[in-house]
Amino acid sequence: MIRWIVSSAIFAIYLLELSSGFKEHEFKKCKDTGFCRRHRTKSGPKFDVLHETASVSGHELRATLRNMDAGKTFNLIVRAHSSGTIRLLLDEDLDPSVTNGTRYRISPEDSVTLPSFETTVTPWKTISKTTKDIVVVSGDVQVTLTFAAFKMLVVVKGKPALSLNSKGLFDMEHFRLKEEGVECDGCWSETFLQFTDSKPHGPEAMSLDIAFPGFEHVYGLPEHATSFALKPTVGGEPYRLYNLDVFEYLDSSPFGLYGSIPMMVAHKVGLTIGVFWLNAAEMFVDVSKEGSNTATQWIAESGIVDLFIFTGPGPAEVQQQYAEVTGPTAMPQQFSVGYHQCRWNYKDEADVHLVDSGFDEHEIPYDVIWLDIEHTNGKRYLTWDSHLFPKPIELQNDVASRGRETVTIVDPHVKRDHSYYIFQEAQSEGYFVKNPQGGDFEGWCWPGSSSYLDVTNPTVRAWWAQQFALDKYQGSTEHLYIWNDMNEPSVFNGPEITMQKDLIHHGNVEHRDVHNLYGLFYHMGTAEGLTLRGYQTHGEDGDRPFVLSRAFFSGTQRVGPIWTGDNTADWKHLAVSIPMLLSLGVTGLPFSGADVGGFFGNPDAELITRWNQLGTYYPFFRGHAHLETQRREPWLFGEPATSRIRAAIRERYALMPYIYTLFRHANISGQPIMRPLWFEFPDAKELFHVEDSFLLGSAILVSPVLQQGVDNVDLVLPKGARWFNAHSGEETQGAGKPVKTKVDMESIPVYYKGGSIVPRRERPRRSTRMQMKDPFTLIVALDGNWSAAGDLYLDDGRSFAFLRGQYTHREFKFEGLKLRSAVHNSGSAVVTSVGSWAPAQDLEVERVVFLGLPKTGKGYTARMPDGTEVSLEAGAASTKFSQAENAWVLRQPKLGVDADWVVELVAHK
Ligand SMILES: *[C@@H]1O[C@H](CO)[C@@H](O)[C@H](O)[C@H]1NC(C)=O
Ligand SMILES: *[C@@H]1O[C@H](CO)[C@@H](O)[C@H](O)[C@H]1NC(C)=O
Ligand SMILES: *[C@@H]1O[C@H](CO)[C@@H](O)[C@H](O)[C@H]1NC(C)=O
Repeated sequence: MIRWIVSSAIFAIYLLELSSGFKEHEFKKCKDTGFCRRHRTKSGPKFDVLHETASVSGHELRATLRNMDAGKTFNLIVRAHSSGTIRLLLDEDLDPSVTNGTRYRISPEDSVTLPSFETTVTPWKTISKTTKDIVVVSGDVQVTLTFAAFKMLVVVKGKPALSLNSKGLFDMEHFRLKEEGVECDGCWSETFLQFTDSKPHGPEAMSLDIAFPGFEHVYGLPEHATSFALKPTVGGEPYRLYNLDVFEYLDSSPFGLYGSIPMMVAHKVGLTIGVFWLNAAEMFVDVSKEGSNTATQWIAESGIVDLFIFTGPGPAEVQQQYAEVTGPTAMPQQFSVGYHQCRWNYKDEADVHLVDSGFDEHEIPYDVIWLDIEHTNGKRYLTWDSHLFPKPIELQNDVASRGRETVTIVDPHVKRDHSYYIFQEAQSEGYFVKNPQGGDFEGWCWPGSSSYLDVTNPTVRAWWAQQFALDKYQGSTEHLYIWNDMNEPSVFNGPEITMQKDLIHHGNVEHRDVHNLYGLFYHMGTAEGLTLRGYQTHGEDGDRPFVLSRAFFSGTQRVGPIWTGDNTADWKHLAVSIPMLLSLGVTGLPFSGADVGGFFGNPDAELITRWNQLGTYYPFFRGHAHLETQRREPWLFGEPATSRIRAAIRERYALMPYIYTLFRHANISGQPIMRPLWFEFPDAKELFHVEDSFLLGSAILVSPVLQQGVDNVDLVLPKGARWFNAHSGEETQGAGKPVKTKVDMESIPVYYKGGSIVPRRERPRRSTRMQMKDPFTLIVALDGNWSAAGDLYLDDGRSFAFLRGQYTHREFKFEGLKLRSAVHNSGSAVVTSVGSWAPAQDLEVERVVFLGLPKTGKGYTARMPDGTEVSLEAGAASTKFSQAENAWVLRQPKLGVDADWVVELVAHK
């Protein structure tokens, strides 16, 4: 009996493992990791600033920091930048003749940060210096450096914003020689499962103790499948930043996933700040709450301290400051903002034709068909399976004839096959990552035995980029774009399914130092390839690259979008996609999405419908599925599911002008696309933890249905604004209080924020390209003062011509019953000139819908720019707003999009 219970318990655990899939024991925790064990929650040695060394010289506050126990010294530099960013650099004072080199640092030449940032330094002014501390200011920011023990306090506009080492957890391990024979936990070699990490350089970890006085909420640190407001980690695992290919990840866990951005945002009423540690080694971050303060500890395995403190003071400024360091989001190909259809795998050319024509048959728009690994000849990327895809060029051209594009997958592992040209060339040039003995590293991945391109080497990236030329990549056309997967990198037989840390990269750099950068460099090389190809095929204005990546780091936003990897078709993964994408949004990587429907498993009609209804508002919108799942193209769920999914995807296309304009704002000033509610309502404390609804830009609030079988959702509409139901145009009362809102399966609750003007294109089309000449509808949703504003950005949607002014950016304002169209003033130092995109002159506004006009018994007349008068239609019978009170529609106003004009409304007496 007892034995039966034991064995059935074991069997149950086994079943649990099978069903959850996630193999926790394959991944390290803090306790399995020497540098985390050595530092987590432990007081560091005493570090003092040698007070006689502390001085300001121009742009830098410099000082020597000394480990008082070990007698080792470190050079400390604090710089101020004109945008309000403070940068703290700490490196060890090393003698390279003893140490065989220096600690690894990411320099501007690595293209992770922008070299232009270095030139924005601004002088410090010394306020006071005593034997205890030195106080310096720059603009609104004051920094106090306390000497013994070392502490730093940052004050913004008189408010304490951040303190460093207030709990004494700071540590920076110094270089030592193995011969010194110092006992040290996990310093010289470490074994996890069957893997031993030889640590030739010994210990070099750092622990940063960063506290946020008065901040109850911190956000960011992607990628984790967990809550948006970061939960305290006391008693559990710290958040881990280590790019890993995690099979069937959990919907709630601090474990590291595919990408890492060591950036945290702290927000409270009146102040938002950010912290970014430019370091690509493995990192653990603890969060603890003490009263209304948040304390954090950041522990990294190697490298230097290069810490950026963004002093806001508002959420938008923090994003702009971060973008100034790591770059703003690239302007995407407009097609990539449409709907993508992916599956592992669309089997062959006939299958692709079937799916493509299925969209037309069911009148569902889509832009891109995707081909996963099975399209290749034996997982040799940049080749085709000649039986399944004998005519890839014809295939792409056929898809393109309907205004659509094709994407193929290309991964960084290279099959070790001497007859494969990529392998041959890379091997003979020595372009692979090396093992510690100096030979090419060999690991196991999809093709079997593989080597990995050392993309940390700019020469290898340049070579890799050339492989995308049309005459190199056989079977490719200018309508083919790329998907980079497995670039964490994934190594099936490596520790934690990735590379061992003692592998060697270009410049004798250990993998340990650059692990979290590898995916970015691979993504960068691939995108550079498509950019080069674009100039070859399209001439001087080129063609914007489109490359989706799974792994990422800070700077990825300049390269292309990411998705949140291999999620699961269940309701919890649907829900966690929102905090995951919000975290990416506030850490400068807004172009991101989760696989709609869930990668693993089979969604039922309800889940796939709800997921598409949410996906409509993801910045990146793609349906994808695992090899072993049932087919799930949108029409396979039958009616009424197909009609509902059609409506959701069509709504995405209707919002295309608005969403594309949001991308331009991300491109100019790093603003997120999907935003937490507090981003627009920064003083509303009750919104600081909200993660089940969000804003798309500033104008649209989305409150998706995240549970099965519900007929209402609890909704909080932020107070201080008017809200209009986006489906009916009706104004919703009761902002500020939770409201039970009825829902049905036709749609999810979505609202226009009063004070916004949202441009739309209402005609259903096959793809974004087919919308380019369509007229616009302006939704003018009024605030309490009967005012509203919004903008519209237009360009050719595909080339770099916008960089030389080939764009049109308009601003619409409604005030005093007058609607005006004028040139948009970007308010940016980067974009100062006014663009002009000739085709915009032929585009018109075909409809203006006013929501929430002052009540009038008799209606409105519009006085048009040419002096004629047109009556507005109440709710306009043929619009979906026919039932809405105070909704008025101006039809066929024939207003040029690219022209300045004023339309004045006159209320009938
Ligand atoms: C310096 O490098 C040499 C050759 O790589 C190695 O044998 C030696 O152990 C290294 N010394 C230190 C202090 O790391
Ligand atoms: C916008 O994106 C392009 C790449 O598409 C990039 O070159 C540019 O620096 C970005 N920012 C601005 C302000 O143009
Ligand atoms: C309305 O105008 C007043 C005065 O200009 C301003 O204080 C208030 O914030 C405005 N309200 C809205 C909702 O914009």
